[in-house]
Amino acid sequence: SIRRIIWDGELIPYYTGFKRRLATIREWDVPDDVIFVTSYPKAGTHWMMKTINILLDAQRKCDGDVDTRVLDSQDFLTSWPFLEEMEGNKLASPIRPSMVVCTHLPRRLLPVKIWENNKIIHLIRSPKDTAVSLYHFQKARGVGVGTFEQFLQRFTNGEGAYGSWFDKELDWWTHERQNPNVLFMSYEERIKAPEESVRKVIRFLDLENLPMDDNFLQNVVKRTSFESMKNEDGRTLTKGLAMQTGTFCRKGQVGDWKNYFTVKQNEDFDKKFFEKMKETDLAVMF
Ligand code: A3P
Repeated sequence: SIRRIIWDGELIPYYTGFKRRLATIREWDVPDDVIFVTSYPKAGTHWMMKTINILLDAQRKCDGDVDTRVLDSQDFLTSWPFLEEMEGNKLASPIRPSMVVCTHLPRRLLPVKIWENNKIIHLIRSPKDTAVSLYHFQKARGVGVGTFEQFLQRFTNGEGAYGSWFDKELDWWTHERQNPNVLFMSYEERIKAPEESVRKVIRFLDLENLPMDDNFLQNVVKRTSFESMKNEDGRTLTKGLAMQTGTFCRKGQVGDWKNYFTVKQNEDFDKKFFEKMKETDLAVMF
């Protein structure tokens, strides 16, 4: 199973040297132009990272000519840094080329300075599909997940890799929903309205040199489609994340949970969802 630690009251997975780094993460003097992508795992984090990198590259060229080779696939993991794995005092240099940092860390553990000027895209996905996706991901990495039923029980009880999906999302919603520097975007919204979602990201990041016509947006959507990512970056990720079976780009669909949840599991899950999340209007995002 996954090694985890409790840090300042938060349940998080353990990475090598993590404790030492965690102490410095909150103090990091983050440059204002670093964009953060935050999520509970499996919300489509890599999909968003890829999209932003393509947009930033196009912005740099200022001609709207989208080049998918912005980053060589081998650079995929290192160029799109994961805050959990970054070396505290070396943070500034490796992020320069991409200016995007992703993290699954709980909100409270993020660098304090990002709440001043940094833009944060917070991704969210239906917890049912999140659970199914995480189940497959962990299984493929040889984590002893047990049956789906056992996994779901732990997920619902908040024993997932990054603690409770419910608590984390409630926390984000409660504290950042009104924050103009935080864009909440759902996986479902991206699937339903891909071009509109890209437009939203462009506006939010103030990438005003970019064209926002249909042609450009369709091009970005095509370059970040499930099929194209599956054949390129997906392969690198499958390897880089040491997945022994299956592929990182697994299914890329909304509603796959219906193939896994029994009627009873679904009822119990809905009950828990509405109990926990009743103060929010999160459900409209899925
Ligand atoms: P599934 O397991 O449901 O297929 P993360 O990057 O946060 O770990 O999220 C991984 C999930 O996003 C997986 O979901 C993966 O297949 C999906 N995904 C990856 N790239 C995608 C894309 N271009 N379009 C849609 N879904 C994508």
